[in-house]
Amino acid sequence: MPLSGTSRIDGRGHLTIGGCDAMELAKEFGTPLYVYDEALIRQNSRRFVESFKQSGFAFQVAYASKAFSCIAMAQLAAEENLSLDVVSSGELYTALQAGFPVERIHFHGNNKTEEELRMALEANVGCYVVDNFYEMELLHDLASTANKRVNVMLRLTPGIEVHTHEYISTGQEDSKFGFGVSDGQAMQAIQHALAKKQFNLLGIHVHIGSQIFDTTGFVQAVRIVRAFLDRVHEEMGYEVQVLNLGGGFGISYTSEDDPVAIEAFVETITREVAATWDERDLPRPEIWIEPGRSIVGNAGTTLYTIGSIKEIPGIRTYVAVDGGMTDNIRPALYQAKYDALLANKASLPPAETVSIAGKCCESGDMLIWDIALPKVNSGDILAVLSTGAYGYSMASNYNRLRRPAVVFVQDGEAELVVERETYEDLIRKDRKRAVLSQI
Ligand SMILES: Cc1ncc(COP(=O)(O)O)c(C=O)c1O
Repeated sequence: MPLSGTSRIDGRGHLTIGGCDAMELAKEFGTPLYVYDEALIRQNSRRFVESFKQSGFAFQVAYASKAFSCIAMAQLAAEENLSLDVVSSGELYTALQAGFPVERIHFHGNNKTEEELRMALEANVGCYVVDNFYEMELLHDLASTANKRVNVMLRLTPGIEVHTHEYISTGQEDSKFGFGVSDGQAMQAIQHALAKKQFNLLGIHVHIGSQIFDTTGFVQAVRIVRAFLDRVHEEMGYEVQVLNLGGGFGISYTSEDDPVAIEAFVETITREVAATWDERDLPRPEIWIEPGRSIVGNAGTTLYTIGSIKEIPGIRTYVAVDGGMTDNIRPALYQAKYDALLANKASLPPAETVSIAGKCCESGDMLIWDIALPKVNSGDILAVLSTGAYGYSMASNYNRLRRPAVVFVQDGEAELVVERETYEDLIRKDRKRAVLSQI
């Protein structure tokens, strides 16, 4: 796999990212360590923004903070003039702490609790993506009590099956998300939302899945949505101001992955929306999208120290690292594949095929099966590439491992943006029992 962004191999055969030697980063901050190439996050963001500017459409590019959320990332997204998709009060809190412009925050989720909705109302978030009838009533009641009128989008499930793993495929009818188009719920939801005094119905939202490589699903989504909106128009005379097409733009994790470029996604979406709306002589809507993975995925690298190496002659060599499913659950969760290199032997040719194991007490805690690497020794630093999305954000304390630190690197400078957890952090919420029972 070619290296992405500012990642290079220097004269000593060391991996460098943002002008920083990965070996030095590992030494200074410890491992496992998430390293983010700040310039690449900015470049990915700008590619979306610039492509939309060229299309002439009014737009918002909302970074899906579920992919990687921390205060520094929300600050960076704000600097790049992105909007922010949050799916919980925790992501919202992080955004608010970062001083993210609240009017550009979109609140998602299929089961927003009353507490979360109250917090969002208090903060005056820019928009609620309403997922179901329960939420619609709850939000409306709370908004009435607070005497606030809120911007609302309705999340629809358009009935599209995209070719991706079933856990990250969300646009099909049999989904926990959204109002179904084909079963009549979407039509009913529009009627209800339009009747609600405290709602300003901006439009509709669809998200067809994640890690999508081509534009077909998006074209299909626009057509299905437009056909649905034609019926809405006929029955209720309502037209959307905003069309939100979600995220899901794929990235390359290994050389087997070949997604179309960011520009091609935007170009196809805007062309299709322009054509379908112009055909009907309707004013073009504002287009919103919600990329997560395609903004941060290839900008992240995880550094690990290699420890034990178990060779089973004629079968396999297990190379164990000091992290695993606790810092990257994707391989265990949906057989996600990654590429990696030895950060201290990056210019050496492959010498053996090994499998990279995590340190958790689960046989399924494998990061990479069968990867060709130079001769591996304990103490080498393994760099797993493109771990920037859904790695840190899905990290856990399984086996009471401490969550790793996160650094942003740029122009030879490394900035610690999330500290490594301490043992104290692990037991912070534990309470010792007051009276020990007699044994
Ligand atoms: C509603 C919604 N928007 C955006 C995203 C971001 O997807 P991705 O990171 O694939 O761009 C997701 C991911 O699950 C999502 O559910």
